[in-house]
Amino acid sequence: MILIVGGAGYIGSHVNKVLNEKGYDTLILDNFSYGHQELVQWGEVVEGDLGDGELLDRIFQEYPITGVMHFAAFTYVGESVTHPAKYYHNNTSNTLNLLRSMIKNKVRNFIFSSTCAVYGFPEKIPLTEDHPLDPINPYGRSKLMVEQMLHDFSQAYDFNYISLRYFNAAGCDPEIETGEWHEPETHLIPLILDAARGIRDKVSIFGTDYPTPDGTCIRDYIHVLDLASAHIKAMEYLEKNNKSQIFNLGNGQGFSVREVIECCRKVTGKNIQAVDEDRRPGDPPVLLGSSKKAKELLDWKVEWVELEDIITSAWKWHEKLYQELKTR
Ligand code: UFG
Repeated sequence: MILIVGGAGYIGSHVNKVLNEKGYDTLILDNFSYGHQELVQWGEVVEGDLGDGELLDRIFQEYPITGVMHFAAFTYVGESVTHPAKYYHNNTSNTLNLLRSMIKNKVRNFIFSSTCAVYGFPEKIPLTEDHPLDPINPYGRSKLMVEQMLHDFSQAYDFNYISLRYFNAAGCDPEIETGEWHEPETHLIPLILDAARGIRDKVSIFGTDYPTPDGTCIRDYIHVLDLASAHIKAMEYLEKNNKSQIFNLGNGQGFSVREVIECCRKVTGKNIQAVDEDRRPGDPPVLLGSSKKAKELLDWKVEWVELEDIITSAWKWHEKLYQELKTR
């Protein structure tokens, strides 16, 4: 049985769905601070907090957990600058709590949701796993500290991990059973889709003077189901090889903010209004990853190659979110 910490969130709920489709038993631990009950449709659920060491010990003693996937983190980069304690407490200190309980209860396989934010400003594109690590905000540092703990734990204890550095997670389950539901929403694609639906009157373009072909930031958008398949392959790799690893997970293609908006116009058929604004602090001009290592060692493949398909899947979910879920 796999313990999915934060399984009621965007990425965790997709991984939970795919694990169950593949025949794994899952147990979700979520405190529902940002997660949603509606997104947990597979596996068993325990409502509780990572800070609760007794609860963690009880879970490891009562359930036959063989591996842990950890998605429960705060991810608002801007908020991490104004409320760093919240980020170090939840993302770093609570993760330490989880790791200690795993060691104590002899659960040795751990998959960690890391981020391309650990790199900071890129010196070289595409980013590879050996690029220098110099995060530029507390969010990225809170995740890097966990990577450092993981390294030390794997040296000292009977413990193996895989750290997955996601680029920009995008898209949703095409069967629209789960999807992206952040409150507040700050991510580009769902905000553009809000504008397409008329929930917002426009979308802001943060910065038009970047050193990129059209002056707007370039990101690497990776479908959430491609992230999900990598998690399963990562867990299988740990079970087979007993060897810790760090992998980038990106699509390998870069799209500018203007290109993403244009693609959303095409998918939705709506004339989405976009307004040029100042840069958002802390945004690197280009984040683009090489996932060669994951492809080679995990035998992982990106299935969702086209941005248009990724956005189409997000648009389908967006309909359900506003027609059914947010009206309750
Ligand atoms: N953007 C806009 N307008 C908006 C929202 C975003 O122009 O209304 C731009 C941003 O400036 C950025 C791009 O769209 O250039 C993508 O922004 P997102 O907020 O969707 O995603 P980020 O790249 O900021 O964030 C992602 C993850 C974070 C992670 C970060 C690493 O969501 O968890 O990558 O840099 F920390």
